[in-house]
Amino acid sequence: MTITALRNFSEIVTMKGAYIKDGRNITPEDLSIIYNASIIVDEKEILWVGEDCTFPEEHKSISSQSYHGKTLTPGLVDCHTHLVFGGDRSHEYSMRLNGADYQEIASSGGGILATMKATNESSKEKLLEVSKERVNNIIARGVKTLEIKSGYGLNFEQELELSQLIGELKEYFSGQITICNTFLAAHAVPKEFNSSHHYMQQVVIPLLKELAPKKIIDAVDIFHEDGFFDSEDVTQLFELAQGLNIDCKSHADEFKDNQGAALAVKFKALSCDHLLCTSQNGIDLLAKSDTVATLLPGTGFFLGKPQANARAFLDAGVKVAIASDYNPGSCHCDNVLLMAAMAAPTYKMNIGELWCAITLNAAHALGLKERGAIIPGLTPSFTMFDAKSCDLITYHWGKI
Ligand code: NIG
Ligand code: FE
Repeated sequence: MTITALRNFSEIVTMKGAYIKDGRNITPEDLSIIYNASIIVDEKEILWVGEDCTFPEEHKSISSQSYHGKTLTPGLVDCHTHLVFGGDRSHEYSMRLNGADYQEIASSGGGILATMKATNESSKEKLLEVSKERVNNIIARGVKTLEIKSGYGLNFEQELELSQLIGELKEYFSGQITICNTFLAAHAVPKEFNSSHHYMQQVVIPLLKELAPKKIIDAVDIFHEDGFFDSEDVTQLFELAQGLNIDCKSHADEFKDNQGAALAVKFKALSCDHLLCTSQNGIDLLAKSDTVATLLPGTGFFLGKPQANARAFLDAGVKVAIASDYNPGSCHCDNVLLMAAMAAPTYKMNIGELWCAITLNAAHALGLKERGAIIPGLTPSFTMFDAKSCDLITYHWGKI
């Protein structure tokens, strides 16, 4: 093991308070900032963090570098993206600006099914190339842990290929960024199937059984929404996933309250995401659970829709994360820090809640409980900012 010291940061934002509170009811003090701070790590874990004036005597001889004027935070986590896709949907964005609605566009042949067509027409090489470019852009934004969902193949062969492609990205970028591979074959129902149940039977269920032994999938996800998949589909998918020891996630309560959050909690899902219409009952169930509520403000900005009532979740004691939802149709933006910094005033989040949402809670939304804070024993995953305080980072709205 190589031991390294990084010394004299203007600030290290440890998130210790947030970690102790398990990401709930966070105050600004829970950033637990150490000033004039240093850190000692090896490849596997954080060994020590503290004020430089208390730097341990026995480590004074190890190689070290000084980072005065810089701020270190837990590595940023983007816990919800759909970045493997072909084509673009710029035309739909203009259509929506001119008055069309997302669901109307989807039911008239646009939307997810249009991206399915473009994705399936792209060669595997091309898809891999554009996906690598997108991951590189995200790395440049300081993200250290990234979730990528499949879901634009929508038939057995293509979805298999997309999950494998995400597996390849995971290997290719190992050491630079940790990638979590989420299986979202239940993203939309192609026209040739007469119901979501039929598609589940023909594609999603057999494919999950095929992929599980290959150990390339980290979680399953489903678009639980009218016109997409219903609670029977969610139950079927989650029961199978649990039997296979694979974690569950869902897109829930986005267009209406269909008790999606409650169902996710019932299955101890890692997260449920969107949650624009979740009822107080769903919020209370989330608060009593370990399921993270992932809010996606970029989608509201991009679609011109209302935002989730973040305060209701936060005040109830729910673990709240923020993610980019980067995808071609409902949020073509890959910058999770920008999203969080822009959304925080609307969400009425304090600075501790904001950082917790893109570090600790976002890591928990991926089942990664050993990251998201800078505490001895945890995984050394950090983002370094050319800023002398964490206030400057959010004030710059996502500039690294
Ligand atoms: O999270 N809701 C489903 N999936 C994406 C949208 C994907 C698309 O429009 O292509 C989302 O918003
Ligand atoms: Fe999504």
